[in-house]
Amino acid sequence: MSTNFTLIDFDIDKLDNGLEFTVKSPSNIALIKYWGKYGEQLPSNPSLSVTLNNAYTQTTYKIQRSSEFELDFKFESKPNDKFKQRVEKFFKRAAVVFPFIENIKVEMDSHNSFPHSSGIASSAASMANFASALCEIEKVVTNEDHDEEYYLMKASFMARLGSGSASRSIYPKMAIWGKSVLGSSQDYAIVHDQFDEIFEGICDSIAIVSSKEKSVSSTAGHALMNEHPFAKTRFMNASNNFNKLLFALKTGDFNTFAKIVESEALELHGLMMNSDPSFILMEPNTLEIINRIREFRVQTNCAICFTLDAGPNVHIMYLKKDEKQAKEFIDQEVKSLCADSLVIHDHMGNGVIVER
Ligand code: DP6
Repeated sequence: MSTNFTLIDFDIDKLDNGLEFTVKSPSNIALIKYWGKYGEQLPSNPSLSVTLNNAYTQTTYKIQRSSEFELDFKFESKPNDKFKQRVEKFFKRAAVVFPFIENIKVEMDSHNSFPHSSGIASSAASMANFASALCEIEKVVTNEDHDEEYYLMKASFMARLGSGSASRSIYPKMAIWGKSVLGSSQDYAIVHDQFDEIFEGICDSIAIVSSKEKSVSSTAGHALMNEHPFAKTRFMNASNNFNKLLFALKTGDFNTFAKIVESEALELHGLMMNSDPSFILMEPNTLEIINRIREFRVQTNCAICFTLDAGPNVHIMYLKKDEKQAKEFIDQEVKSLCADSLVIHDHMGNGVIVER
């Protein structure tokens, strides 16, 4: 891993009194999907997401200096070996960029605000959490002088190596990852705040159609794009959709926004259906909800649309100005189609928050 983010000059004595802090890091929902990667977690097309608010990972960290890296990991206050291994792998890999990792003991207790079974991207929230924690420690031990923007970039860079979509969870409101007309980077995400005020606080109500584990992991899913017959067309479409969405966001054009966001969701699922092996992750109620959203939009002109992640649950996106009308529709027309009538209401949020 070669990077110009590697910390060169630090002083571990600065941890003599230990360090304690909490990191709250959100999940995000992609409007332009990252699906397909190469090299070291580099995206085949630019992606754009809304940072969520209520779906987050919160972790308390206690850091002490030590003669070697040690990890004491708890999930929801209980030891969890499976998660511990993933966290350990992340920290060991991160040692190239954060060399002080070899000299610290980390005690962590992590929990998610959302149920594991909801299909909300917990890896995005958790990888953003660990990466931000490393930056927080660096701020204490470093002898170098960097501003806040540098640390956001570095956290996003490190989060990306853990999980691509996590790179976008660092930032408030909206984020972009991958090379684009805006001069954004493959290596880390940047904040995107060039949108009309109608999109401020945009809502995402997640209709939980099924709480079963999804049948394709995103890592396996990305690999399906390597030999996919439509790969080239997909990456071209994604870039075109990305550019059109930038314009719709800037000009406050909800109709174009809805058209592109829905097309991205269906294209993602179309690609999976057409992969080898093939995956159908939508369920009958996924389609029923989609049809009801479209019908409701035509009948009422409500600024509402849908997107999907790599699973059956429907992310119902609507503008803040239509929140009351959209929530009534969800209560009356969508809830009964969800597992245990579960709909998780969320909206645009503020990115990672660190508290000492
Ligand atoms: C469909 O970021 O979970 O949610 O980089 O392998 O960890 P890895 O994949 P991941 O992929 C996310 C795929 C997606 C679309 C998106 O969030 O852009």
